[in-house]
Amino acid sequence: MTAQRRPLVVGNWKMNGLRQDGVALAQALAEKAQQQPVAVEVAVCPPATLIADIGGALDKSVVEFGGQDCSPHDSGAHTGDIAAPMLADLGCRFVIVGHSERRSDHSETDSDVRAKATAAINAGLCAIVCVGESGAERDAGQTLDVVGDQISGSLPDGLRSTDVVVAYEPVWAIGTGRTPSAEDIAEVHAHIRTKLADISPDLAEAVRILYGGSVNAENAATILAIANVDGALVGGASLRADSFWTICSAAKADSDG
Ligand code: 13P
Repeated sequence: MTAQRRPLVVGNWKMNGLRQDGVALAQALAEKAQQQPVAVEVAVCPPATLIADIGGALDKSVVEFGGQDCSPHDSGAHTGDIAAPMLADLGCRFVIVGHSERRSDHSETDSDVRAKATAAINAGLCAIVCVGESGAERDAGQTLDVVGDQISGSLPDGLRSTDVVVAYEPVWAIGTGRTPSAEDIAEVHAHIRTKLADISPDLAEAVRILYGGSVNAENAATILAIANVDGALVGGASLRADSFWTICSAAKADSDG
């Protein structure tokens, strides 16, 4: 059976940009989307401080937006945290949860990530759940076990296919200019698909699995053509409209396999 999953390219701006830069970038993307339409779904995840302004700049655009993290709680005494319903209230469609920088900077565990994903889904958001092995884990031959355990531990029960996107981001490939070989990416994505099938065959068929880690305008076409790669989660190269749009343009309308 051929799966028809509309690819998704997401820009993770991380902790970059003041209002003027962020709005200018969002406006440039809205303009690109109009002048050079792409067949794939496109979203950006700016820092929380910019979401309201970016929402305004993308109001009439097909480019969607989301947050980079959310609290597992809907409200209450959690100073500094941002609840999923607050992101939904700003018009977000997505929220990234379990990014390796959150896992390492804030000691987030799989069960924390699962609680955040649950809160996101309950607020009507699509959770982009990140998994990926460290360099030491890859060297030790543990990649598939580590990623498989992260999938089992981080995904909530009772998922519908629209609730989540999985992003495979090898930690050692993030911001380093190094990427796994096409064979290695294909192997991990196929493994994630198998883990999803353990939950439900329908879920495995429909959930999009993105690759992230040093995706750029030069390597995007090759990476996006790999079996079971349904799009990309892009860091550094999403901070410039030209490079990000080249990546979005490199994704084909339907991914199969
Ligand atoms: P880079 O594209 O800068 O390697 O970052 C990847 C990433 O962490 C996206 O979430």
